[in-house]
Amino acid sequence: MPKEWSESYSLHHAAIDAQHQELFRLANSVEVLEPKETTKEVLASLIKQFFNYMREHFVDEELYMQSIDYPLLTVHQKQHEDIITAMTDLLKNTKGIEALQTKMKIVSHKWLVEHILENDLKIVKWLKESNSIELDDYVIL
Ligand SMILES: [Fe+2]
Repeated sequence: MPKEWSESYSLHHAAIDAQHQELFRLANSVEVLEPKETTKEVLASLIKQFFNYMREHFVDEELYMQSIDYPLLTVHQKQHEDIITAMTDLLKNTKGIEALQTKMKIVSHKWLVEHILENDLKIVKWLKESNSIELDDYVIL
């Protein structure tokens, strides 16, 4: 089943939340394709869109972390780098539409959902602990 963005993933930052939602949308658009009715070109173009958007998003998220002097910025940057490296390897070494779709499910779960839940949400935790944010506040870029 495709994953959906949930309010509980919110970073209390409108632009970053919107990007996370778009990443879920792009990942889901790959997952719901019917392998028999999909050409390699269509799948490749969707995966490329997802990958490019993810890279742009990582840059924006890192700029945001920098702007708030987030102490785990370097660790978080390394996690983004690892995701990009793993995804590049996967795309290079996976052949066939069904195999690529299966790998994309792993990407959307492991790298998208787990990364947001385990690491991106640490930013919110830190903001709250350092009293920079009230629970319902939104930070604007
Ligand atoms: Fe992140």
